[in-house]
Amino acid sequence: MISRSGAEQIVARAPGRVVLIGDHTDYTGGLVCPMAIDRWTTVSGTVGGSRLSLTSDHESEALDIALPVDDPRLVSPAWGRYVAGVASLLGTSKGFTGRVRTSVPIGAGLSSSAALEVATALTLGFEGNVEELASLCQRAENTATGLPSGILDQLTSAGGVAGHALVMDCTTFAREPIPVPDDVWVQVVFIAQRQLVGSPYAERVTQCAAAEALIGPLRSASIHSIEEIEDPVVRRRARHVITENQRVRDFATAFRTCDLVGAGSLMVEGHESLRNDYNTSTPAMDRAVQSLVQRSDVYGARMTGGGFGGCVVALTQPGAEIPDAWVVRAAGGASRA
Ligand code: GLA
Repeated sequence: MISRSGAEQIVARAPGRVVLIGDHTDYTGGLVCPMAIDRWTTVSGTVGGSRLSLTSDHESEALDIALPVDDPRLVSPAWGRYVAGVASLLGTSKGFTGRVRTSVPIGAGLSSSAALEVATALTLGFEGNVEELASLCQRAENTATGLPSGILDQLTSAGGVAGHALVMDCTTFAREPIPVPDDVWVQVVFIAQRQLVGSPYAERVTQCAAAEALIGPLRSASIHSIEEIEDPVVRRRARHVITENQRVRDFATAFRTCDLVGAGSLMVEGHESLRNDYNTSTPAMDRAVQSLVQRSDVYGARMTGGGFGGCVVALTQPGAEIPDAWVVRAAGGASRA
């Protein structure tokens, strides 16, 4: 698109995501089952000059930095570090002036940061496939924030398939789209704003590495092997990851065969595991899940994403009126207009 000034207008958008099951498995190369949702971050603007200048409809301070980016970690305001991380890895030297808009709630565990990274990369001229896009954006996030997060969010935002959940293998990046059955709604309840930077997220990654040093890759470890882990906390972390990988496989089978009762109870088991073995839930999330699963029109519910706040996801009958919830639909992946 050419703007009135004659400069080329570039627009790209990337969706947020919700995890139906398979949390805290990605950074050990495990299995996940998310879906991209119908909430997007859009970056639009024109190429020109030598600075990267972006306003955001949701942030009071604009980003305005010289190119090429030197160290994204030092960029202010903080939201601009995700953008700067991407520009730094792309080696962007041509200036860009534009605007960020989003309908992904920020800091709610629905991957607002991945959506920003992926939309930024496409706007700044990234060329490559979904896997390369996701890897670049994951590295941008790791570099810019210091958080050792996995590939789940970026791969979902880049590779979403409309109307489908994705069963993804975080070792091979293989993705199998599974249709979301017609007779189910996916609903999200916001619980609390949170940030994973500074949370115990990084400690969980370290604990999984400690478990793997003793029993090998958790992705292929047998549940019996955790008996070899002496430290009770590390043992519980390993138990979550090994059982969660199996729940993703079972959930995929249940979803494929439209066994919604089975899928829902796996979600509840997954929540219990995150609460008791992985300690990433919060009392408010536990209360929300408990009250959801008491309803006859709810198949299952669980915390979703990194945890320590964020959102709860529920699988419900169509038309179920859950207080403060909104229905999310499975969206396609990121695109340049
Ligand atoms: C965050 C991270 C992901 C993943 C989830 C938990 O969203 O960014 O890489 O680890 O938490 O499943």
